[in-house]
Amino acid sequence: MSERRTSGSPGRRERAAAFGPGRVNLIGEHTDYNEGLALPFAITEGVTVRAAATGEPRIEALAVDLGEEDAFDLANPSRSARGWRAFVHGSVAELASAGVELTGARIEIAGTVPQGAGLSSSAALEVALCLALIALSGAEPPERRSLARLCSRVESQWVGARTGLLDQLASLFGEPDAALRIDFRSLEIEPVPLGLGGWRLVTLDSGERHANAESGYNERRAECARAAEALGIASLRDADLSMVSALPSPLAERVRHVIAENERVDLTVAALRDGDLAEVGRLLDASHASLRDLYEVSTPAVENAVATLRQAGAAGARVMGGGFGGHVLGLMPPGTAAPAGAHEVRSGPGAHLIEDF
Ligand code: GLA
Repeated sequence: MSERRTSGSPGRRERAAAFGPGRVNLIGEHTDYNEGLALPFAITEGVTVRAAATGEPRIEALAVDLGEEDAFDLANPSRSARGWRAFVHGSVAELASAGVELTGARIEIAGTVPQGAGLSSSAALEVALCLALIALSGAEPPERRSLARLCSRVESQWVGARTGLLDQLASLFGEPDAALRIDFRSLEIEPVPLGLGGWRLVTLDSGERHANAESGYNERRAECARAAEALGIASLRDADLSMVSALPSPLAERVRHVIAENERVDLTVAALRDGDLAEVGRLLDASHASLRDLYEVSTPAVENAVATLRQAGAAGARVMGGGFGGHVLGLMPPGTAAPAGAHEVRSGPGAHLIEDF
């Protein structure tokens, strides 16, 4: 469906609220912008945006948890907005350029996903903002893959992080008790039952905040683009190991990670279908080793957090999301106690409007 709409807005509302979940990526890291595979799930924590029409052509925004405010004219979102404000300005601008006739609103943003944790508080925020503003304006919501792209533009063009579509698709398409096998070439999304039995997935804070816009994320992305260009292929999805020896370091290492990480996604899907959680743990460990040694997105603080999880008996543990800090992921077998400060993550529903608020 086209993202542009030209009609008026017969269904304008006085109030609207939306919830966007954060996400955990079980496996398939730094593959999305290489047209590869990943296996994320939406988590029960997320961001809630409540919007009330004001009748003024302005946006007034309050970030409840931070106690910070912002206000700007609907027609004049600013490129110099920073932090959470950049997401609000960017969402307004991108929705307007997709043809949504926005209503002036007072919005309140409240979240339960820690920021900079690698649990994608940013996608949760973009998705909740867009769904609430669209509902308030009475416009027909765009098809969800189009909305994911729109939210991704908010991040790349207004926040400064050229992220892939992993976080937005996980937040928009998540389902309880399922992970999503996403093929980033076709954008096909297949729910895979997340039958954990008595096993638990937990995250542990490395203590180091990460921000995709400032970390080595954009540099990794650029390295992958350079590698694909050097190999004469459209994306690293088309790479195979026989090509790698032609590449200089560190491009060869980056490509080796991407090839094997795509394979690990399908091995994890198979292990989940077989109920073989021990194998899922081994795959998480292999992913971590590759992200540390070949993709080089780990840090000493991340290594400490991974070691803490392993010492507590995790069957597998790894750096998660963009890397360079944030939370790490661990798979705890039945009968083990997660270390102090670890937080159990559960799969929950994808982004939705909240009708009774
Ligand atoms: C961040 C980005 C995603 C993805 C991951 C790495 O979370 O936002 O698009 O690239 O890093 O897998």
